[in-house]
Amino acid sequence: MASLTIRKLDDAVKTYLRLRSARNRRSVEEEVRVILRELIEGREEPLTPFSAPPAPSTAPTPQRTGALPEASVTLIIGGGIAAYKSLDLIRRLKERRIEVRCVLTKAAQQFVTPLAVSALSHERVYTDLFDPQSEFDAGHIRLARDCDLIVVAPATADLLAKISNGHADDLASAILLATNRKILLAPAMNPLMWSNAATRRNVAQLQRDGVALIGPNSGEMAEAGEAGVGRMSEAIEIANAAERLLRPPMPKPLAGKRVLITAGPTHEPIDPVRYIANRSSGKQGFAIAAAAQAAGADVMLVSGPVDLDDPAGVTVKHVESARQMLEQVQAALPADVAIFAAAVADWRVANEGEQKLKKTAAGMPQLQLVENPDILATISKLTDKRPPLVIGFAAETEHLIENAKAKFARKGCDWIVANDVSPATGVMGGDRNTVHLLSRKNGAKDGEIAVDSWPVMTKEQVAIELVAHIARIATDKSREPAS
Ligand code: C5P
Repeated sequence: MASLTIRKLDDAVKTYLRLRSARNRRSVEEEVRVILRELIEGREEPLTPFSAPPAPSTAPTPQRTGALPEASVTLIIGGGIAAYKSLDLIRRLKERRIEVRCVLTKAAQQFVTPLAVSALSHERVYTDLFDPQSEFDAGHIRLARDCDLIVVAPATADLLAKISNGHADDLASAILLATNRKILLAPAMNPLMWSNAATRRNVAQLQRDGVALIGPNSGEMAEAGEAGVGRMSEAIEIANAAERLLRPPMPKPLAGKRVLITAGPTHEPIDPVRYIANRSSGKQGFAIAAAAQAAGADVMLVSGPVDLDDPAGVTVKHVESARQMLEQVQAALPADVAIFAAAVADWRVANEGEQKLKKTAAGMPQLQLVENPDILATISKLTDKRPPLVIGFAAETEHLIENAKAKFARKGCDWIVANDVSPATGVMGGDRNTVHLLSRKNGAKDGEIAVDSWPVMTKEQVAIELVAHIARIATDKSREPAS
């Protein structure tokens, strides 16, 4: 098989891989494998590399499908009566969008069949260390490493002994010895076996080795009349434990902060049926709202007319015109951070028709335009209630940085996110964006302008990076912007 040296890839690809793998909490090597797998399976994930931040599996799915990061588990089923629960475990993992590849020990096959396991996992099942089909390219190594977590359920007393002593005389133990992934064991055995000094030693050793355990629970045993500690945890408990290891709760750096965001275009009426608008889709502003919400902020989104679902957990005010947007923004203050991503129409029609304008013999109606309030500049220049961090956007079709710098001074905001929206870029209405973050060096009001250019990213990715920058400021008092 060909091997790939990540170091030798060009910088844009390296940055993309690093960001994506960091977000998904995988090694870069593993991320490349996932991308290739997705490509082969014809999924579109490579073009939308960052999933939205993790949400509990029971929570309503945010705006995009694929909201949970992809994850995969190698499930080793040991030989015990509790093996039947592993069939349910496969289902529970899959409903959490966790891919499952199963390995059955020889003893496990006495309790569940490879056919049943394969039917539930939709994958081939592995049983033999010396299977020429899977071992032609060291299949046990792949099973050990091409996953994010190894779950052993049921983990029998014999398997615990093998793992704690580093045996590798069958496929399951070879995988467990060869892995560099986290391991979760769900022990199941007779209470006397569980309390036996040998098992106690093995469990203590495994805990010292950093292996995670779930259960066993206490209760009745399969053996008539026996009860005690030794019952394997329920499938749902094991799946939840696996999910906690795979998707640890996200830090909430913006907890307690109020973030105000504008998004989308505005519609400026000409008459009751016509309006002036622009091509803004609102995707970038909505992605920022979702990312700020995931970072723990209390988010208020004031949106012009868009064709997007409201992000989960965000308060959304829908408006039409620039004046309505300003009204809602003012009503939403105070805020710790205000991000003005809306493409507000610069002008509105002064002589808006009360009725639909008609074609007349007198010729075409003359539209008189008046300037709309500049929401960003208005809020930036407030003396009271000015949010400590005000961020504007500069969507330009030429001289991007030059124009963005000029806007910076004019608007009085703290940061400007500049992006090129000329038609060739496909940014307006598209899913990707290339942005430059302009800020003042050391946060000083008249300080030199620093330009931080980011690689091309999805709008979700831009949102996550922007929120990460905000979180650094929000949690570092010494770097607070001048107000
Ligand atoms: O002047 P220009 O429209 O290019 O400035 C863009 C920035 O100003 C964006 O952040 C936009 O949301 C904001 N803006 C505003 N109100 C306006 C015009 C622009 O808040 N009337």
